[in-house]
Amino acid sequence: MAILRAVQADITTLAVDAIVNAANSSLLGGGGVDGAIHRAAGPGLLDECRALGGCLPGDAKMTKGYRLPARYVIHTVGPIWRGGSHSEQQVLASCYATSLQLAADAGLTSVAFPCISTGAYGYPRELAAQVAVDTVRERVAREQAAQEVIFVCFSAADLATYTALLADKR
Ligand code: AR6
Repeated sequence: MAILRAVQADITTLAVDAIVNAANSSLLGGGGVDGAIHRAAGPGLLDECRALGGCLPGDAKMTKGYRLPARYVIHTVGPIWRGGSHSEQQVLASCYATSLQLAADAGLTSVAFPCISTGAYGYPRELAAQVAVDTVRERVAREQAAQEVIFVCFSAADLATYTALLADKR
């Protein structure tokens, strides 16, 4: 039985098997959580990312964690919000599902996600949280998914949203 929980934290401080990066298609770094992860990991991360050839929205690629306390970084590319009728929900769900699949394939058991697409990419944060929780719940109900999934919230508002969603067992 997987444990799902929400915390308010800087994702770069977490000593989990893998943290997920909300990257862009180049995988060559940027602002927000992506910038924070690259700064904390050091230049080895960018060197490995250069060899990956980018990443499509909804897909994910894994690297080592370098100077991070996390062993691995799973880089995924969220959708840019364009009003909600451009497959944003499907692409965001795919980010969570594909990242968990990569982690499972590598035998990793603890994975921490940021609130993908809800910063520079403009996805409404409550809608994004619902997609995140629904997708992770659906995936961990299957065999071989991670045993611990942490939703890492940068803001108190996000933490309140995730805490309410996770308390709702349905
Ligand atoms: N730890 C946890 N969450 C964080 C941290 C941190 N250190 N820093 C920011 N957040 P964003 P996106 C939260 O903009 O919307 C980059 O330039 C932030 O408050 O980082 O997917 C990439 O290179 C927000 O809730 O990612 C892309 O070009 C969430 O992380 C683009 O931004 C996501 O915000 C991706 O945009």
